[in-house]
Amino acid sequence: MSVIACCPGTFDPVTNGHLDIITRTASRFDRVIVGVLDNPSKNPLFSVEERLGILREVLKDLTNVEVCTFSGLLVDFAHAHKAATIIKGLRAISDFDYELQMAQMNFRLGKVETLFMATNPVYSFLSSSLVKEIARFGGDVRGLVPSGVAERLRDRYEAPQA
Ligand code: PNS
Repeated sequence: MSVIACCPGTFDPVTNGHLDIITRTASRFDRVIVGVLDNPSKNPLFSVEERLGILREVLKDLTNVEVCTFSGLLVDFAHAHKAATIIKGLRAISDFDYELQMAQMNFRLGKVETLFMATNPVYSFLSSSLVKEIARFGGDVRGLVPSGVAERLRDRYEAPQA
């Protein structure tokens, strides 16, 4: 029987910190389902189709990783994919309160366990929101996100040509 883990997130956009967690998860589980939240009310910069496409491209060499979208409850998505474990990266203690609450609620809702993986310290300051803010003001996001994401961010925030 294969042991399946789920790595959920908004991934707007995916960062090198996310990729590090997904890659390390893939090395310890038989299969990994990356769940991309489709929640238009969050007003994402990248559509769910773009986020799926980016993740599938950057993860294409990890043969035990599948990228899917979901809406609704994470526990329902995990059950649908037979994933008994959710993996969440923890960057700092400030992440912990909310993540603990979600982990306990997800266990209560669907008996799905959450395991926390310590973020690689080289990415502990990294978040999708900060990456977008830096890109919006023309800052350099190379090394923080995959190169294709850096290009898309540049295109997205480039001033329209007259
Ligand atoms: O990358 P993010 O935005 O931190 O990911 C948050 C995510 C997608 C893991 C979280 O918002 C989520 O699980 N959403 C699905 C809705 C749900 O199940 N809510 C109850 C959580 S206890």
